[in-house]
Amino acid sequence: MIFNIFKFMNLSNNEKIIIKVLKDSGNALSIEDIINLTGLKQVEVMNSLSWLKMKGIVKLHEKIKKNYMLTEEGEKALKYGLPEKILLENVRDGVGDIEELKEKIGKNNVNIGIAQLNGKGIKVENNKIYIEDSEKAENIIKKNEEMLKNFERLDEGSLSILMRRNLIKKKESVLREAELTEIGKKIGYEDLKIAEEITQLTSEHIQKGTWKNANFKKYDVTLFSPFPLMGKEHPLTYFINRVRQIFLSMGFEEIYGKYIVSAFWNMDALYIPQHHPAREMQDTFYIEGNADLPDYYRTVKMVHENGNGISRGWKYDWDENEAKKLLLRTHTTVNTIKYLYKNSDKQNLKAFMVGRVFRRENMDPTHLPEFHQIEGIVMEKDSDFPMLLGTLERFYYLLGFKKIKFKPSYFPYTEPSLEIHVEYNGKWIELGGAGIFRPEVTEPMGIRERVLAWGMGLERLAMIYYNINNIRDLYLTDIEMLKSLPIP
Ligand code: PHE
Repeated sequence: MIFNIFKFMNLSNNEKIIIKVLKDSGNALSIEDIINLTGLKQVEVMNSLSWLKMKGIVKLHEKIKKNYMLTEEGEKALKYGLPEKILLENVRDGVGDIEELKEKIGKNNVNIGIAQLNGKGIKVENNKIYIEDSEKAENIIKKNEEMLKNFERLDEGSLSILMRRNLIKKKESVLREAELTEIGKKIGYEDLKIAEEITQLTSEHIQKGTWKNANFKKYDVTLFSPFPLMGKEHPLTYFINRVRQIFLSMGFEEIYGKYIVSAFWNMDALYIPQHHPAREMQDTFYIEGNADLPDYYRTVKMVHENGNGISRGWKYDWDENEAKKLLLRTHTTVNTIKYLYKNSDKQNLKAFMVGRVFRRENMDPTHLPEFHQIEGIVMEKDSDFPMLLGTLERFYYLLGFKKIKFKPSYFPYTEPSLEIHVEYNGKWIELGGAGIFRPEVTEPMGIRERVLAWGMGLERLAMIYYNINNIRDLYLTDIEMLKSLPIP
C-alpha cells in the first residue's frame, strides 16, 4: 500500500473500539455482543455502526432467529410435574376412579395423563384406570420430562411434539449483526490506537492553553450523516391547513363557532321540520339546558307552519321548546347560517370554516361519531348554480382532485341540492352536499340574493389524499404509521 487510506477515514474512538472487537471475534458480531464487549451504550454502537457502514468498513445484516420458549403450561409442568406424572402418582394402589381423580387433581391432568400413558403402562376400563406396568409408565414420564427440561437442545421432531402439547411455543426474533467488509478487514491494529480526542473546545482549553497540544476530533462536513427524525405536523392538521389555505387564497373569510348550539340554529333556521328523523335522539347528541331564540324566530315559526307567503310550509305546529334545546352541532351549516343572519345587511359574503361535528354513529372504517366538515357560503349579486359547481370544482382541483362528479340530491334547506363524488381507485366516493339555500331559509332574514352553500366531509377526503383505508387511523397515535405518511 502506497499510503494508508485508513488514516484518512478519520475513525472516531468508538469506531476504533468497535472495529477492534470485530477483529478480535472473527470479523462478525451481533449488536448485543458489541454492546456487551465494548461497554458502549446502544445508541453509541448504532451511531458508530452507521458511520462505519457509510465508510464501507462494516456491513449490517438482519437474521431471523427462531427461539422456543416455555408456555405458561410448560412452566407449570416444570414446576409441579407433567400431568401424566401427577396422574400416575395419584393412582398409587394400582386402580383409580376417573371421576374421583378429576375431582382431586383436575380434569386436565386426568385427560392429558391418560392420553399420554394409555396403552403404555396403564389401561382404562369402565371409568377406571389400572396400572399394568408402572415401570413402563414411569419411563415414558421420565422421557417426557427430559424432553421438556432440555427443550432448548431438541431436534425439530421433538420440538413439534412439545408444541402440540402446548408446553413450548415458537418465538421469532431479529438478530442484527455487524460484519467487517473486505476493506474493514484490512484495517490493522496500529490504525486502531485510541487517542484522547476533544470534541468540544471549552473556555478552560483556551485559558490554560491546553488547546495547543490537544487532539481535536476532525469533522468532515461533506460526509453522509444519519437523518434525524424531526417532528412534523399531524397529517390531519396539515390537511386541514391545506384546505383552509385554498379557501383563503380564493378570497374567503374564515369563520369559527362553538360545538354546543341550539336546535334552532342547527335545524329550525335551516327549515328542517321538527319531525325530521335527523332530530331524533338516536342521531343527535342533546345537551341539558336551553338556549334563547333570536327575534326572527317568529317568522321562522310561520314559515314552518304555513310558509309565510313563500311556500305552503310544512303544515304542523312549530314548538319553540323543541327549538330551544341544546345539542352538539351535527353539521357546520349551523355556523354559516348564523353568520348569514348576523351579516344579512351585507351585499357580498364569501365565508368558510373547517369544524368538528358530532353524530351518533357507530364507528367503522368509513364512519366516525366525530368528524370535520368543510363548510362554505357565497352570497353575491347574480350568484347562481353554475357558480356553485365552479367554486367546488376549483376547490377540489386545487387540492389535487381532478375528477369529481355532481349528483342531484335532497336537503330540506337547499334547492337545487347536489352531492359531490370523487373518484378513487376506480370507485366514486361521496364527499358531501351542496345547494342553493331555499327562500324559506334566507327570506326570513331579509336576504333576497341566492346563497350558495356546501358542507363536505374532511376525513374521507384526507383518507384518499393519504391513501388510508381505515378512517380511524387518522386519530390513532401510531407513531410508526404517522412517520410513514409523507409530508405532502
Ligand atoms: N349540512 C349538509 C350535511 O351535513 C351538507 C350541506 C351543506 C348541504 C350546505 C347543502 C348545503 O351533509
